[in-house]
Amino acid sequence: MSTTDYKTMTTAEIRADYLKFFEEKGCKLYPSSSLIPDDPSLLLANAGMNQFKEYYQGTKTMREIGATSCQKCLRTNDIDNIGDARHLSFFEMLGNFSFGGYTKADAIAWAYEFITSPEHLGLPKDRLYFTVFENDDEAIELWHSHGVDYDHISRLGEEDNFWAAGPTGPCGPCSEIYFDQGPEFEGEAPGDDGDRYLEFWNLVFTQYDRQEDGSMPDLPHRNIDTGMGLERIAAIMQHKGSNYEGDVMRSLIALGEKLSGVEYHASANDTDKSLRILADHSRAVTFMIGDGILPSNEGRGYVLRRLLRRAVYHGRLLGIQGAFLTTYAHEVTEVLGDQYEALVENQALIDGIISAEEERFGATLNAGETMLQAELEKLAEGAVLSGEVAFKLHDTYGFPIDLTREISEDAGHEVDMDAFEREMEAQRDRARQSANRDAWGAANNVWAAVSDHIAETEFCGYDSDVAEGCKVLALVVDGEEREVAHAGESVEVVLDKTSFYGEMGGQVGDTGSIASDSARLEVSDAKHHEGGVVAHVSEVVEGELHVGDAVTTTVDHGRRELIRRNHTATHLLDAALKRVLGDHVSQAGSLVSPNRLRFDFTHFEALTAEEVARIEGMVNAEIFAAEPIVTKVMGIDEAKAAGAVALFGEKYGDVVRVVSTGDSDEPFSRELCGGTHARNTAELGIFKIVSEGSVGSNARRIEAVTSVGAIEYVDERLAGLDEVASSLKCRPSEVLTRVEQLKEERADAEKKLKAALVGGSSSQVSDAVSAAVDMGAYKLVIARLDNIGGKELRGVWDTVRDKLGADCACVLASVADGKVGLLAAGTDSAVAAGFAAGNVIKEIAGHVGGRGGGRPNMAQAGGSDASGIDAALDAAKSLLNA
Ligand code: SER
Repeated sequence: MSTTDYKTMTTAEIRADYLKFFEEKGCKLYPSSSLIPDDPSLLLANAGMNQFKEYYQGTKTMREIGATSCQKCLRTNDIDNIGDARHLSFFEMLGNFSFGGYTKADAIAWAYEFITSPEHLGLPKDRLYFTVFENDDEAIELWHSHGVDYDHISRLGEEDNFWAAGPTGPCGPCSEIYFDQGPEFEGEAPGDDGDRYLEFWNLVFTQYDRQEDGSMPDLPHRNIDTGMGLERIAAIMQHKGSNYEGDVMRSLIALGEKLSGVEYHASANDTDKSLRILADHSRAVTFMIGDGILPSNEGRGYVLRRLLRRAVYHGRLLGIQGAFLTTYAHEVTEVLGDQYEALVENQALIDGIISAEEERFGATLNAGETMLQAELEKLAEGAVLSGEVAFKLHDTYGFPIDLTREISEDAGHEVDMDAFEREMEAQRDRARQSANRDAWGAANNVWAAVSDHIAETEFCGYDSDVAEGCKVLALVVDGEEREVAHAGESVEVVLDKTSFYGEMGGQVGDTGSIASDSARLEVSDAKHHEGGVVAHVSEVVEGELHVGDAVTTTVDHGRRELIRRNHTATHLLDAALKRVLGDHVSQAGSLVSPNRLRFDFTHFEALTAEEVARIEGMVNAEIFAAEPIVTKVMGIDEAKAAGAVALFGEKYGDVVRVVSTGDSDEPFSRELCGGTHARNTAELGIFKIVSEGSVGSNARRIEAVTSVGAIEYVDERLAGLDEVASSLKCRPSEVLTRVEQLKEERADAEKKLKAALVGGSSSQVSDAVSAAVDMGAYKLVIARLDNIGGKELRGVWDTVRDKLGADCACVLASVADGKVGLLAAGTDSAVAAGFAAGNVIKEIAGHVGGRGGGRPNMAQAGGSDASGIDAALDAAKSLLNA
């Protein structure tokens, strides 16, 4: 069989042709959804159908007969297997979907047309094989009706031919299409482990909705969900045997070859594996950060961190020097950026996160390696490295076990892998137990129950502090629902609507009061619970409150006003940061309270004083411009088109509030936001940044104040300055000159003091000099000096030399604050006559509990035992025969 009996297509051609083909059949083209799924049962997007879950379940309907897309997917079930020729973590999936709009017969007919028609893939029919679910005779007949021979169709069981995206949700039997790569590959039949029959397209006939309890009621309609792995079909269309050999992956492998100087397929299998891991992981990492995932120790952040670290580690194995991973990210963006604009838009962020994480992990590798080397040195020749040590390296230092093994084996030591595995298993048990605890905690949560029977609380406090005619829907006392709450009780009150803002998006909850005809409550906080239910955390001050009562809610006006201003200030700050630092700045968290605001954002180094000043100045300029704050409610697409800043990784409903400064087309700030804001920037009065610092490896934090808080801050600072000025007895404007003057005076005084201690005018120094012993060729001073630091001894030596001239030497001991200093020094002629400072110090330092040595003309040591000073000097005398 020839491998060139069909045409060749690039990845881009296949992608474009597929999407066009299904659009022409009437499917609506959808862009890929984010790798962060909407669906809480999923960690990461793993299939094209994810974004259509609600259409399958019938809670949403589509006007068109179905949809088509090319979806970013990430599957994490076998990260550790990646490196063989097949597995990929990240991949693109071409799909077509129907939610009752077209049938199984249509899906099969179109799939067959697309793969065999010469206008499309034009694959040779004799190399195509089909599998169906156990008893799906209908599918067999449908394939056969297009001319497929029965001996090219086989039945497979649930493991292969039943598909579900997650533990619950839409699922169903499927039929898969295989390509026969030819007898030179191993493999007997479609569905076996060999590489001969490659599965490249999965057609799922989605018809069930699996529930938590395992039951599978029918979905409202019979659906279609097909998925074709783009890398795999690209390899087939390019006459290649592996996912890694299609054009996209091959360009990443080629980059690895260039960076490492190692050729793919040239030598050992291990380097091929590392090249593949680098190609796969670097692409996954780039896409993940592009979609707003940041490295962390849990959830998807952890997946990202693992992939990134594994890539760095394999780079090292290949001998790539220095940081290299952003080079891969650029290649990924170069090759796929025109399809996935998030890669281009977030390039600065991607670069920054990768560099910071790569640098940190590089340091981890170094630290781990040092620890491992120390452990290995302790081992007898050929001894086994304990599994506990290997686990500690893995767990505490993040040092990969493969690397531990490799380094140990190079040094002739096996690693006790059984013990390592036991430690890993124990850790997994611990993790499982804590996960169970969380699930149990959630099940006990009264708020889950409340949100089941109560709809989202309506917020009607944007323009007013007061809302009248609100109805009490639930009362929760001590974690239980109640019908009534009495005076003196703490209660969480749920209403149908409220003027209280429940804590959300960083803005703290409001405080204030609730009043009915018969009760009065003080509200100390308002919180958001599941399903958008707002709980007013209250105390009944007077009377009784019943479910069903009508109440008026009144928010504490002054506090709310301060919150409004600080919230507006966070928008201005965000906009200024982007302008001054660049587009990679993205909000990573915030706190908006009455007294201050806190804003965390992605950035990789400390801000300079000049940057802080520019940012502050920009925000203040907006305040002084007295721009009205304009809020518009609009569709999410319209908002994005207008350039509104959306929070990274945040989900928004279809209708959003867009908050802008002013009404121009290009306002200073325009953000999607549900919070409460000042009516005009002028209300902020003045904006001051109080602090700027780091939070984690890739994020900075700014704390700032506005209006009343800013005045308080400035007052406090000025009062501090006044106090200093009065203590210095000068005017505030003279403080700096006065402090400089004091510093100079102090330096002068210190100099004089030092001269008095070590110079000729010091009596202990002059006494020592007059007691110099004549050694013939030179004069020798041996002396003990009190209250002089070891550092000052050099000054004493200068004085000795000044007094005694060119032929002299000294051995000095000093003690200050319990610390001993020793110094021996001699002029050239003294050294020529046999004086050896280094030897003297070496011999005598032990007496004062120190160690030291040095050159023949100058040596010093420190010690901690002052009681040995006399013995040390005596030892010097006898050594020098003085
Ligand atoms: N959801 C199926 C799969 O991922 C078909 O798209 O294989």
